[in-house]
Amino acid sequence: KPDNLADDFSQALDDIRSKLPESLHSPKVALVCGSGLQGLAEQLVDPVLVPYADIAGFGESTVHGHKSALAFGFLGKTRVPVVCQLGRFHAYEGHDMQSVVYPIRIMKLLGASVAIITNAAGGLNPDLVEVGTVVALVDHVSLPSLTSWNPLIGRNRDALGPRFPPLSDAYDFDLRLEAFRALHDLDLPPDSLKEGVYAWVAGPSYETRAEQRFLKAAGADCVGMSTVPEVIAARHAGLRVLVLSLVTNMVVATPYRYAGTVAAAEREGKGEIVDAADHIAQAQEEVANHQEVLDVSARRADDIRALVERIVERTFA
Ligand code: HPA
Repeated sequence: KPDNLADDFSQALDDIRSKLPESLHSPKVALVCGSGLQGLAEQLVDPVLVPYADIAGFGESTVHGHKSALAFGFLGKTRVPVVCQLGRFHAYEGHDMQSVVYPIRIMKLLGASVAIITNAAGGLNPDLVEVGTVVALVDHVSLPSLTSWNPLIGRNRDALGPRFPPLSDAYDFDLRLEAFRALHDLDLPPDSLKEGVYAWVAGPSYETRAEQRFLKAAGADCVGMSTVPEVIAARHAGLRVLVLSLVTNMVVATPYRYAGTVAAAEREGKGEIVDAADHIAQAQEEVANHQEVLDVSARRADDIRALVERIVERTFA
């Protein structure tokens, strides 16, 4: 039986287009906004918000600080029609993989040829990134999708893409090049944008220290809980992909192995030399938290917004 896309998607496309002026029926760019980076939608000219609740097949996003709508509008001096996904679906919310990638597929079917995805990530490689660095992804390491959580598992949607899509070229070189040119156009610090590798973890718990070292050893420069499912679905459907990961916290990866030393020092009466309180305080500073992620996103949001707008202008000049 041939794959009939219309069976699954046509209602959603009708729902969306019925709310939009003709000029926004076929957005060229699909934007996906990460934690604290939804301000991108305020940059849109003549915006129209279509709530997920009005679109067939959409779930509900539950993360604090995320909205639940597609924002349509024009971006940049050249008024490029775009659609911006406000509020994404993460596997850790309990959504199945099909729901996680549904919006990217819808945006592709509406007409997008380019996906620009932003996210917040922990920095694993201090030689490359610091808090505030934006990483243009060149590649990813994804234990979940290597082993079981791949959004393409199940009957292949032949009408969207092939059964066995390659991912060795997942992160588009030309879009990355435009990102670096845009950085220069905007006079932003040259070392505030780097190229690096992202590790996807399912979350919602942050990584243990041993897991942090493991991911770093596997070649990842940063780590986060989103994006890879969308990238896989986007590449499957033939979208060109740019991902900008904002490093919101450094992941320290140092072992936490002091109890034996402290106890031995106590026995030998050297308690003042090895102070357990110092170690504990230090270790607590190294713990990731969601507020820190939102704070850094807020601080860097304007630059990322400007960068994305300039990249879109350059790509559709
Ligand atoms: N780990 C995983 N996901 C994240 C992090 C982190 O340290 N920071 C922001 N998202």
